[in-house]
Amino acid sequence: MCGIVGYVGHRSALDVVLGGLQRLEYRGYDSAGVALVADGSDGMFLASAKRAGKLANLIGALDEQPLPVAHTGIGHTRWATHGAPNDRNAHPHISGRVAVVHNGIIENFATLRAELETAGHELLSETDTEVVAHLLADELQTTPELPDAVRAVCRRLKGAFTLVIADADHPDMVVGARRNSPLVVGRGDGENFLGSDVAAFIEFTREAIELGQDQVVVITPDQIDVTDFDGNAVEVTEYHVNWDASAAEKGGYELFMLKEIAEQPQAVADTLLGRYNAAGELQLDEMRLSDDELRNIDKIVIIACGTSFYAGMVAKYAIEHWTRVPCEVELSSEFRYRDPILDRSTLVVSISQSGETMDTLMAVRYAREQRARVLSICNTNGSTIPRESDAVIYTHAGPEIAVASTKGFLAQVVACYLLGLYLAQVKGLKYGDEISQIMAELAAVPAAIQRVLDDADVVRKLAGELVNEQSFLFLGRHVGYPVALEGALKLKELAYLHAEGFAGGELKHGPIAVVDDGTPVFAIVPPRSRDRLQDKLVSNIQEVRARGARTIVLVEDGDDEVLPYADHVIRLPKVPTLLQPLVATVPLQIFACELASQLGHDVDQPRNLAKSVTVE
Ligand code: F6R
Repeated sequence: MCGIVGYVGHRSALDVVLGGLQRLEYRGYDSAGVALVADGSDGMFLASAKRAGKLANLIGALDEQPLPVAHTGIGHTRWATHGAPNDRNAHPHISGRVAVVHNGIIENFATLRAELETAGHELLSETDTEVVAHLLADELQTTPELPDAVRAVCRRLKGAFTLVIADADHPDMVVGARRNSPLVVGRGDGENFLGSDVAAFIEFTREAIELGQDQVVVITPDQIDVTDFDGNAVEVTEYHVNWDASAAEKGGYELFMLKEIAEQPQAVADTLLGRYNAAGELQLDEMRLSDDELRNIDKIVIIACGTSFYAGMVAKYAIEHWTRVPCEVELSSEFRYRDPILDRSTLVVSISQSGETMDTLMAVRYAREQRARVLSICNTNGSTIPRESDAVIYTHAGPEIAVASTKGFLAQVVACYLLGLYLAQVKGLKYGDEISQIMAELAAVPAAIQRVLDDADVVRKLAGELVNEQSFLFLGRHVGYPVALEGALKLKELAYLHAEGFAGGELKHGPIAVVDDGTPVFAIVPPRSRDRLQDKLVSNIQEVRARGARTIVLVEDGDDEVLPYADHVIRLPKVPTLLQPLVATVPLQIFACELASQLGHDVDQPRNLAKSVTVE
């Protein structure tokens, strides 16, 4: 959601900003714009261009009407909240000598706008952002130094915002501010950068600085100063980004999603890497909770959204089984509005690939206010959610660019499993050899995923056969149930088709009514080692088939019992039941991706969706 870039240095600011916006495209947006501080015959001035639609529209406009060469600039891709995605509402918004780009929602914008209009300001757009530009222009009348004026305006704003500002009177400076919305700083040599995330500047530097809540950063070519909103200097955390620009590129794949699906064996292997200490015990490096604290945990609540929520649903089965600690899984957006029962012995586990999802961030804050301990599972170093948590386990999936999560999901399941095993270890509920046995099974998963990837032709062919279908059902039991939900979500997101996942046991309680002649029904058959589960699901398959469904059965190697009821078979490598989601999800991702491609959709950036949902 909204990509932001700021630059000061010796390069062409336009090239840096457009390159950064291109790398942030994955976040989802519907208009784009840039502003440069350029040198004109009458002194420095703001040169700006903005266009609705994709970045290509802006680049086309800039080709027709080039902007002057400049070394300071800001840029933005907007995901509309206040006002339609048109040229007028696109950012930057300019008032007087300043240009402003913004991510988030200014909650008191209506009051501020009324105040400005009464004072004679004419606002041209419907956005909350333009209000900030006008407030700032006003403030600069009495507070001429840009950083001071930005701090003064920030103190008046309510809600969530990242602001990045260029000023014609300060040509070598860009100022950024953040509250409840992401902004990171890139440290260069004789140049510095701001970005919604490190992808914005990864081509130029891998040295980054985390900004805290309610902070203002001033970058010039040689300096980075960070203060709070009152102007007090603050300590910052610097970090090195452990991936490079090539990781954020397609690397020969047609789509980011295809690349990320193919990277899943590596994502799982990397998330498992380095989790043992010299004594052969499981260790979780970034865990900031002591073993004593963990021993006292008597309830776990997992909070997450979307695909991450489904990872949590999978994890519940393993965590409860291994630790015997009750584990609830709840949507972040529902959690804090239902008065959950939390105390010091509750462990709240947030799962977020981006680490910026506003619903999850708010739920994390709520949990901490209620004195629960919060552990976050996250894929993005330096993002807000892990920073605000008591503990963190990073997934090491590498940057996920396609809007629909794939490798992020698998890595989250693995990280949750590590947490479950670690809790079992510190609580003394599993012997070392039992933990090693499960770790060995997990270590074999990357090869199993690779097998699924190598056998994917059958899935792609199937997508071709089903390309004209309008409605799909997915059915699973136990850990196969969240896999069914995830399969349906992927298809909705990418192919814009009706798709529903449900638990096999629920079939007769309603969903079977929608099964009609030819309805495609995917069924994830549990491994045979879980006899009762497997039998029950085979019965479900027979039930839908008897009503005319076209059955697509995902079943482990060697299980032929279901073959008489399967119109199509997708074979899965044999793995233990709890690990089956790590292989069974993959064909469903490939199916959705292929079907959406055949329908001609933009798979990496599906309509209406954003990668990082930074508003509630
Ligand atoms: C679906 C998808 C979303 C995210 C959700 C949470 O493919 O990507 O449902 O899983 O928006 O995002 P994070 O994990 O960044 O909090």
